[in-house]
Amino acid sequence: MLVIRLNKVTSTQDFAEVISNMLYEDFLIIAEEQTKARGRLGRSWYSPKGGLWFTYVKKNFRTEMIQLSGLKVAVAVLDVLRKFVDAKIRWPNDIVVHDKKIAGILIEAKTYEDNINLSDLFIGVGIDVAVKEFPSDVNATSLYLELRKEVELSIDEVITKIDEYLNVDNKKAVDIVNQFLSIKDRDVILKGENWEKKCKALFVDYMGRLITECGIYEVDDVHRVETL
Ligand code: BTN
Repeated sequence: MLVIRLNKVTSTQDFAEVISNMLYEDFLIIAEEQTKARGRLGRSWYSPKGGLWFTYVKKNFRTEMIQLSGLKVAVAVLDVLRKFVDAKIRWPNDIVVHDKKIAGILIEAKTYEDNINLSDLFIGVGIDVAVKEFPSDVNATSLYLELRKEVELSIDEVITKIDEYLNVDNKKAVDIVNQFLSIKDRDVILKGENWEKKCKALFVDYMGRLITECGIYEVDDVHRVETL
């Protein structure tokens, strides 16, 4: 597979989107540092040296499989991180340790004009491996801060796990999410565009929606989930 390693880039996601039109096979863009990285819903993503920042592009990805792909990638990253720390999933696809974010996943897709059943899938993953401090407004942690020592995270292992979990059936992936759901049976504040609601989170259903005591929530409608 084509792997491009960059010292510094605005965003591996932007870089991947630009070159993807020229390529026909899956590829991986890894950067040591990003200056304009983004998270879900256009938020910025802090990415100094010390993290694992990459975009993995799957070509000819079945469009119908995009819906649960974020959740499956979260399960893959969780699997790798649980070898080191007691990581959990905060729906929809944040990885947290003691409610502090340690990894984030951004899924973007571009459906082919000549075949709407297939898409380029841009899997953006940020893992705080050896980040030593965060800006005061970022509630995050890193493997280094949790373990107080440097650990090596193998990108090959992360990619192998992503491929493995993208191929598992939806039920199995969702079962794992529920097993490690950080907000299960907890009161959370759900925030959308112009609303917020305090609810008890129950579980994630097989369509990837959050079932709470106050209703069912779709991933795209919830901008933020805060634990109390
Ligand atoms: C989120 O939690 O909102 C998702 C964060 C995703 C960050 C990664 S880092 C590599 C890739 N490039 C980006 O600009 N974003 C993703």
